Amino acid sequence: MLILSIDTSADDTCAAVLKDNNILTNIQSSQIDFHNEWGGIVPMIARRSHEEKIDIVVNKALKQARLLPTDIDFVAVTYGPGLAIALEVGIKYAKEFSAKYNKRLIAVNHVAGHIYANFAQNSKGKPIVNIKFPLIALVVSGGHTEFVLMKDHLKFEKIGETLDDAAGEAYDKVARMLGFGYPGGPYIEEIAKSGDPKAYKFPRPMEKSGDLNLSFSGLKTAVLYKVQKLETTGDLNKTEIANIAASFQEAVIDILVQKAKKAVEKYQIDQLIVGGGVIANLTLRSRFRKEFKNINFHCPTLPKLYTDNAAMIGIVGYYKALKGDFIEKIENLDRDPVLSL
Ligand code: KG4
Ligand code: ZN
Repeated sequence: MLILSIDTSADDTCAAVLKDNNILTNIQSSQIDFHNEWGGIVPMIARRSHEEKIDIVVNKALKQARLLPTDIDFVAVTYGPGLAIALEVGIKYAKEFSAKYNKRLIAVNHVAGHIYANFAQNSKGKPIVNIKFPLIALVVSGGHTEFVLMKDHLKFEKIGETLDDAAGEAYDKVARMLGFGYPGGPYIEEIAKSGDPKAYKFPRPMEKSGDLNLSFSGLKTAVLYKVQKLETTGDLNKTEIANIAASFQEAVIDILVQKAKKAVEKYQIDQLIVGGGVIANLTLRSRFRKEFKNINFHCPTLPKLYTDNAAMIGIVGYYKALKGDFIEKIENLDRDPVLSL
């Protein structure tokens, strides 16, 4: 199966080509420079930029795979969750491509994509990592932080989620408080390297809640108060900024590890996979590897599969195609900004 996949759910214009779930090309055109100026994604800028780039990005994905549009068997496109006016661009393009070349269309949930980034295969069609069902998937991105129980392919049961901010959103907000750009995660990770993670004991909200839900809003507020206090006394220097970043990061990782442990214990499951932009964080991945060394723990094998990309959408597309799950009437496909798993 040759699959063309497209994702325009946020600020990156993404297209990929896969042969089954083996990634041939994975092209991503970032808009970070535009949004950095504003401290976050500006929907109208995102839309315009997607419109300008989508054709170029798709053609690049095909060309680098040495394929023509006619070679493609199916088109997979993200239809939610995400920014409505950004999603529309990818969906419109996918519909036009499907109609023009008479290809079937597959609608993909972006969050499922982050989970399926773990199911990429190598060029010999062998799984890169061996993952069995049932498993627990943790998605930690800019828009989502949730635990999902999967008993089989494409069977998602949400067993816990954040009640307020997503982990990535907390990173972005704290980065902003400390005077860094967008997205905040990479800035915090970098500055935290020179800080002391034990300098400040920030709260771990819902530690004792007994369920698998999470919360990052109280942590974010505690960081804000600390920043304001140090600003008032004139002590918000580089050392303190690094200490705050490291202590904040330590709290986020503690919260995620603690709840992930609770999830595998509660469901007696020895398979844990993680996905989403926040796992680009090396400190977080190392800590997970250490804490879950006795079970089958995996994160995507290629860094390009952590943050938003279209290859992960193509992998979901592959499994949906195996089940014959295609869009019946392509004109009926519409974006769903609040789509849930
Ligand atoms: O999965 P993603 O690319 O987009 C969404 O679906 O939201 O995730 C983006 C999020 C942003 O909040 C960003 O700050 C965070 O992932 N992120 C990181 C790192 N790289 C990206 N967070 C922590 N450490 C990083 N190195
Ligand atoms: Zn994402």
